[in-house]
Amino acid sequence: MKPGGGSGGGRPVQGRQRVKTARNRSAQSTRWLERQLNDPYVRRAKAEGYRSRAAYKLLELDERFGFLKGARRVVDLGIAPGGWTQVVRRRVPGAAVVGIDLLPVDPIDGATIFEMDFMSDEAPARLMEALGGAPDLVLSDMAANTVGHPQTDALRTMGLVEAAHAFAIEVLRPGGAFVAKVFAGGADAAFVAEMKRNFATVKHAKPPASRKGSVEWFVVAQGFKGRPSAGEPAAEG
Ligand SMILES: C[S@@+](CC[C@H](N)C(=O)[O-])C[C@H]1O[C@@H](n2cnc3c(N)ncnc32)[C@H](O)[C@@H]1O
Repeated sequence: MKPGGGSGGGRPVQGRQRVKTARNRSAQSTRWLERQLNDPYVRRAKAEGYRSRAAYKLLELDERFGFLKGARRVVDLGIAPGGWTQVVRRRVPGAAVVGIDLLPVDPIDGATIFEMDFMSDEAPARLMEALGGAPDLVLSDMAANTVGHPQTDALRTMGLVEAAHAFAIEVLRPGGAFVAKVFAGGADAAFVAEMKRNFATVKHAKPPASRKGSVEWFVVAQGFKGRPSAGEPAAEG
């Protein structure tokens, strides 16, 4: 998602960094670079040793909802480059984390990381084998690569979220939580109703670190009701 390269070369103009347009840099990547240079969360992430500004979205969500406290086993879907897992490890140092991403990720102490597609048949079993027990928390920051067509992008990302939710309700321990990135127009009523059948509370949130212009929102589902035992009907609404 990071277009272009370049060393920056910005000069301050009225407190804002401006970037000279280089011949080999597109207007889009110049804008991206300018935004990065002027983003306080990017600076903070650098200063505090987080690999991504996304780390602050999880920190802010946790400040509001408190799902990290006491977590012992955590799954991080779409882990790269690793900001969310760093937050988990710093907040709850004893927690074991397993993560998965299409992209390679540099090692993180206390985390087992798979470079594979979460949508592949074998992914759920590989994650669970590595975790060695039911998680208290399933995180998903997965987003499909955007194609620029808003409806298509929302649908593709919602496909990932729904797969993450299906996995979460299959593996979570009762009382556990599911936190996932959704698109504003994407978490449709039927999906929210399905989550509400499975969790005591389901809330939508847009943490301050999530850029105002982006359509990204998060869903925080807490108090997993558990799977019905054999012969028992599924929980109602
Ligand atoms: C916004 S980034 C995650 C940032 C991360 N939470 C952090 O703090 O560093 C979304 C990630 O989802 C991954 N992703 C998208 N589709 C995936 C899939 N099918 N399986 C695994 N990872 C996927 C992308 O490769 C990308 O790295």
